Amino acid sequence: MNPDSLEARDTQSVIHGLTNLKRHLELGPTVIERGHGVWVVDNHGREYIEAMSGLWCISLGYGEKRLAAVAAKQMEQLAYYPLISHKSHPQAIELAEKLLAIAPVPMSRVWFANSGSEANDCAVRLAWYYWNAVGKPQKKKLLAHLQSYHGNTIATASLSGVSYNHEGFNLPLPGFLHVACPHYYRGAQPGEAEAAYTQRLLADLEARILAEGADTIAAFFTEPIIAAGGVIVPPAGYLDGLQKLLKKHDILLVCDEVVTGFARTGEMFGATTMNIVPDMLVCAKALSSAYIPISALLINERVFQAIARHSDELGVFGLTMTYCGHPVASAVAREAIRIYEEEDFPARVRRLETPFLDGLRELKSHALVGDVRGKGLLAGVELVWNKGTREPFPRERKIGAICAAIAEKNGLILRAIGDTLALCPPLVISEAEIAELLKRLRTALDETAATLTVK
Ligand SMILES: Cc1ncc(COP(=O)(O)O)c(C=O)c1O
Repeated sequence: MNPDSLEARDTQSVIHGLTNLKRHLELGPTVIERGHGVWVVDNHGREYIEAMSGLWCISLGYGEKRLAAVAAKQMEQLAYYPLISHKSHPQAIELAEKLLAIAPVPMSRVWFANSGSEANDCAVRLAWYYWNAVGKPQKKKLLAHLQSYHGNTIATASLSGVSYNHEGFNLPLPGFLHVACPHYYRGAQPGEAEAAYTQRLLADLEARILAEGADTIAAFFTEPIIAAGGVIVPPAGYLDGLQKLLKKHDILLVCDEVVTGFARTGEMFGATTMNIVPDMLVCAKALSSAYIPISALLINERVFQAIARHSDELGVFGLTMTYCGHPVASAVAREAIRIYEEEDFPARVRRLETPFLDGLRELKSHALVGDVRGKGLLAGVELVWNKGTREPFPRERKIGAICAAIAEKNGLILRAIGDTLALCPPLVISEAEIAELLKRLRTALDETAATLTVK
């Protein structure tokens, strides 16, 4: 690396998440300088299809001028104002009203934050506050799935069921519990039918709730589709059964729509696609198409009434962050939703789902591909050592990472989650671009296969 290059300067100055920090010193970064639509260009002029929307977020693609214009105008008009102490501004009000109007189930109020992590963290806080408010302060434990990802504050990293969030960080905190991930392809016993697998999981879950004591559990967090854990679509009947159990045992349900919100699965919210009726709903990322950080936590009337009463008893609702409902971010998010609605993005995704998912399913005939799963424009392609037995590659072979690196050389950016290749392209992708994405992916798989002997 030339010491004056951006690559070398990066290694001497920036810390990168989800990266081996030591290896980064030798490898350096891919430096992306600009983008248009689904394409990004690096500092050497190489073009890539950004098939991960950055980090599951830039749904409207790069270069959306309407969002840039709204941000500039709002910065000139009112660059900042806090939402504390009975103060407000039109942009937060308009965005909150819009979110309540398009929410997948009746919701009562909106709390704003700056990231998915913060909004989920606030949902944890509100769950505790709620149970304190209704006189059940012993209801404190939080449940989530293994392999789920809910963020990286101390509470949400604890809530997440991925080990890299915990290892080396003294997490999870006590009281954050994990139950089996509803992952039929990986979790089913040999010969076990999907319905039997689902019933087994639900029976185990109820046994766990009873063992912990339902009166000690505050809330269950779930993603409609478990994204960062490997794009896992829960089997039919699982989420229905889960919701019945939570109702029976009076446990709040928080739906984490940070990835699935705003048309990703072919409906405005993944809760509609997957039939979820939550007490709280968290969204971020595509809320502003990632043009500016903002997240939102929607709460239902039951939760709102209780916390409003409790804040009156305590004298104040003691939750705040400087940039909650930032006017520029709120204006950008409002405009993003305007675009999703005007151009009917849910219908667009439903239309594109067929060429996208069918094209990926055709890869099932490839020697490396064991499973293809997804909804809308969100998919996972799992690579396996033995397709017949579903035996994975030995972890140390890092086949997913190798394939992702080969894909990048072929102008396709995707993300390896273990040996699952995640795909989450901007929703503005065209059919021709989907065909190009699939072509580059097949080339990457062929070149990866050529480096090994597969059973
Ligand atoms: C489902 C889910 N929840 C929460 C988060 C955390 O969001 P953020 O990175 O904006 O804090 C993520 C991030 O990928 C996510 O995938």
